[in-house]
Amino acid sequence: MLLKIVLLLALVAQVLVLDNGLLQTPPMGWLSWERFRCNTDCDEDPKNCISERLFMEMADRLAKDGWRDLGYVYLNIDDCWIGGRDAKGLLVPDSKRFPHGIAFLADYAHSLGLKLGIYEDMGNLTCMGYPGTTLDKVEQDAQTFAEWKVDMLKLDGCFSTRMDRAKGYPMMATALNATGRPIAYSCSWPAYEGGLPPMVNYSLLAETCNLWRNYDDIQDSWKDVLSILDWFVLHQDILQPVAGPGHWNDPDMLIIGNFGLSFEQARAQMALWTVLAAPLFMSTDLRTISAQDVEILQNPLMIKINQDPLGIQGRRILQEKSQIEVFKRPLSDEASALVFFSRRTDMPFRYRSTLGRLRFPSSRVYEAQDVFSGQIITGLRDKTNFTVIVNPSGVVMWYLYPIKSLAISKWKSQD
Ligand code: GLA
Repeated sequence: MLLKIVLLLALVAQVLVLDNGLLQTPPMGWLSWERFRCNTDCDEDPKNCISERLFMEMADRLAKDGWRDLGYVYLNIDDCWIGGRDAKGLLVPDSKRFPHGIAFLADYAHSLGLKLGIYEDMGNLTCMGYPGTTLDKVEQDAQTFAEWKVDMLKLDGCFSTRMDRAKGYPMMATALNATGRPIAYSCSWPAYEGGLPPMVNYSLLAETCNLWRNYDDIQDSWKDVLSILDWFVLHQDILQPVAGPGHWNDPDMLIIGNFGLSFEQARAQMALWTVLAAPLFMSTDLRTISAQDVEILQNPLMIKINQDPLGIQGRRILQEKSQIEVFKRPLSDEASALVFFSRRTDMPFRYRSTLGRLRFPSSRVYEAQDVFSGQIITGLRDKTNFTVIVNPSGVVMWYLYPIKSLAISKWKSQD
């Protein structure tokens, strides 16, 4: 009898766990929301309205301008694509703006080596008022997305109760599993519960979703980048341990390439999001983005760090009186990423430090590569003084790796 109960419980647990094997590293791609919002005016603004044309043009850019080959493969539709439900209750896209349907867009994305993401809302309506996925529609909608060959679902949480969400988010994980199609699952669930325990159960979330929005929406300003960063840092003891391969915290989209960030701030968002092991979803116009912003977003070493296979989220380890903050992310092969971030508003600051101060062991000699300039600084021991010059609201970022183990070389020289 006991065995039977155990087996039954194991079965139930198995069914509830999202089991798609996806997103072993944070997802990378493009998401329409922050830049293109709910612009549905295709008569006045045909190039920028939420329509199949916009997604096809972004797909072309992702495939042809080097993005896809660096890992930016998700082309994700956000709110405002829905036209309604048909007589059978099936979701249909707005027929004027998506005349060929979503399956067509998915095929188009796949033909270019991309993946298509879609948006729905666990509730009566999406945040912009389009038909949502109520509890009775969860299975049907999961099936529809799978039939369209969608590869990711962002499930928002407007117009629902806490109870709806507690039932609906796990129910959707089960429904996605049941389709047999691997569909990455992005949940906005915690953001609607304040983002923190006891209202949010992060172990359950990690078993239910591949990524989740914890906090407020990003807007096109440095102030918003800072307020999101501050919240993630304030709660890093809770948030940092719950991220890992297949399940990520999502501080929201990159706004690089838009209107709100200076050059230094754009680099800072990229470096800080990377050290936080955040999803890299751009939300910018890839048709008109500047070469300077492309360089920030396409930095190969930055992407290698973001995509590190260990999938450990970084932490802020130091907050200096000088208003320099140091973030550290452990990486594979005993390497680390370090971000020196300046909150100053006066002038470039000469930050003097040692690896010992940044909690590196004395038993190794390290080398650092500056992630933006490529410059190499070698022979760093725990007590070696170094100076980095950090611009106001900017960063210096290092990829740091051991080149010698002092204990072993000592032993060898005695040999
Ligand atoms: C919420 C989400 C945003 C976006 C909008 C769409 O605010 O947090 O990311 O999806 O809804 O309406």
